[in-house]
Amino acid sequence: MSNFLELARSRRSVRTFDGKEPDTAMIKELKEFSEEITNPYGIPVKFVFLYKDEHKLSSPVLTGEKLYVAAIVDKGQYAEEAYGYSFEALLMRAHELGLGTVWIGGTMPRDKFENAAGLSTNQIMPCISPVGKAANKMSVKETLMRKGVKADSRFKFVEMFFDGDFDTPLTVSGAMDKGIYNALECVRLAPSAVNKQPWRVVVTDRMAHFYEKHDKGYITPDYDLQKIDLGIAMYHFEKDLALDGRKAALEIENPGISTPSDVDYVASYKW
Ligand SMILES: Cc1cc2nc3c(=O)[nH]c(=O)nc-3n(C[C@H](O)[C@H](O)[C@H](O)COP(=O)(O)O)c2cc1C
Repeated sequence: MSNFLELARSRRSVRTFDGKEPDTAMIKELKEFSEEITNPYGIPVKFVFLYKDEHKLSSPVLTGEKLYVAAIVDKGQYAEEAYGYSFEALLMRAHELGLGTVWIGGTMPRDKFENAAGLSTNQIMPCISPVGKAANKMSVKETLMRKGVKADSRFKFVEMFFDGDFDTPLTVSGAMDKGIYNALECVRLAPSAVNKQPWRVVVTDRMAHFYEKHDKGYITPDYDLQKIDLGIAMYHFEKDLALDGRKAALEIENPGISTPSDVDYVASYKW
């Protein structure tokens, strides 16, 4: 089992924190890590750490948090995929350090966060996350929220992953034969907005083609939130392969596989 799969399995969104400012050495490490993050699109994503009390910030779904991190990217093609990839790199590093986080793209006073982060008009800041130690017990609202979005469940492997075309589900054993089970399992377990899990992947010869299955209500005038989910999934996929000593290269060339309705091509990985 790869370490990244263990990390992906042990991660969950954290919305109830211990009420203390997180350890400064840990945050220093996280900030330093954030400055080194790159993504296969070569699009810079900037991270801004904001203390709750200093900036008078809050979110209705959070309790006991003291620090947030906001991520900013310039508007443009592939901004969302790059954003999801880079921000997830940071949040998985936080998880590795023992810090809880949760992607927040909706349940926040957006204007306040954007002002505090100093967002300019050519930039977007679709999401923020709290960063801190999880409380021993989840708040009632967190428990209810997890139930509401069925946060502990995911689609079955064969519902998301396909072998050669969208008519042929890829089974767990089929993925194992192709040496791609762990990487796809890491995709399956990734977080997504309202747990919609919009990623679909068609595997052909040493290539994984990523597609977005659109749900209604996730495209704003400035960005498509579900494309951020795709970036997150791509980070999980590539990271698992990398830790297994396999370099996955991004290629954006639609293979022309016929797609179901509401499903669009996003990008491919070749390994
Ligand atoms: C792009 C994105 C936006 C999200 N926005 C919110 C949000 O506004 N509020 C919230 O409470 N959770 C939000 N989430 C967290 C998801 O609800 C959560 O990841 C999903 O339910 C799966 O649960 P898990 O992360 O514990 O596995 C968001 C997740 C993603 C990836």
